[in-house]
Amino acid sequence: MPASRPSESLSPVLPEAVWKRRFRQRVSRWFAAHARDLPWRRTRDPYAIWVSEIMLQQTQVATVQDYYSKFLAEFPTVTVLAAADEAAVLRQWEGLGYYRRARQMHQAARLIVTQHRGQFPREGESIRALPGVGRYTAGAIASIAWDARQPILEANTIRLFARLLAYREDPRRAAAQRLFWEFAELLLPAKQVGSFNQALMELGSTICTPRAPNCAQCPVQQLCPTRRAGLQEVIPAESRKLAYQQVREAAVIVRRNRQVLLRRCGPGERWAGLWDFPRFVVQSRSAADLASEAAEQVAQLTGQQIRLGRHLTSLKHAVTRFRITLSCHEAEWLGGSPTRDLCWLEPHQLEDYPLSVTGRRLSRLVQSEPGTEAGPPTATPAAPGIPNT
Ligand code: ADE
Repeated sequence: MPASRPSESLSPVLPEAVWKRRFRQRVSRWFAAHARDLPWRRTRDPYAIWVSEIMLQQTQVATVQDYYSKFLAEFPTVTVLAAADEAAVLRQWEGLGYYRRARQMHQAARLIVTQHRGQFPREGESIRALPGVGRYTAGAIASIAWDARQPILEANTIRLFARLLAYREDPRRAAAQRLFWEFAELLLPAKQVGSFNQALMELGSTICTPRAPNCAQCPVQQLCPTRRAGLQEVIPAESRKLAYQQVREAAVIVRRNRQVLLRRCGPGERWAGLWDFPRFVVQSRSAADLASEAAEQVAQLTGQQIRLGRHLTSLKHAVTRFRITLSCHEAEWLGGSPTRDLCWLEPHQLEDYPLSVTGRRLSRLVQSEPGTEAGPPTATPAAPGIPNT
């Protein structure tokens, strides 16, 4: 790639005008012919684009599609979202994981109503001031909704840029991020910026994949130094693999007549704002020790006294680097007084409460027991999309 060096801090060579022109033309032409028909590509409504971009952080396109349509059906405007209860928002988000995204969106919707009279802000600084919105999301919203000349940088474009720049070091380094943002800005066309930014993401996610990229179908294969050097499997450099950690947890289904006990997870907890059966990390090694540990932990979490009963099931799931074996037990309620973040529910009422994926599996188990009002037994659904929530 012919050289121009706009900044001393950059080691790889950034492209000159002819390269950029060819690149833009080829990428845009390719996108016009190959863009997937995704629901958020049929709108210029900044609110809908915002919803899609927040969902697409850390979640695959295939998983997001369903959630996106249902979320917008439930909360069609920012005003409706702002007026909703947080629990209702989390219920719609259930299974998508990273629930902080939903809580922050809800807070942001309230800010848009109070500070921007319900109009999605158009100015870059105001968009970035919204909770949960960083430089990438602000750039995506502004460029896709209004064709603002704002760059974007996310996982797919980082990989694409690393290869286009033959960048051999770790792309997560701060220096790499600065370089890629600069590159993203240099590449921007004068017009149709939103479509161009989406084309970059599309190219990264469908052609310039992490393993075995489909260079033969790539519209910019001739402009790619990594392809020329045959280094596609080496660039981008891999990060060190996270070591998984095995954890044992227990969940307790406390019964009082026909009801079961749920508690709302507090701020700072893994599932803040969601409801859950009392759950704790297990220290004990024997069944007898588990019974007293469970009684202690449930008392600490809920102020309720229980006696641990039979083991119902064990579920395996993952949260970030933790590989969790969750052992689920019944328990008999012995006493205790009600508090604010506790509730006793009939099995069918569990439907209205936002739960984690494993919480929902347990709720299905409770609902499928004979004598409950949940109707016919419900099969335990496969965790939607990602298994780690
Ligand atoms: N990933 C993040 N944003 C995206 C978008 N708008 N289209 C496709 N993939 C994306």
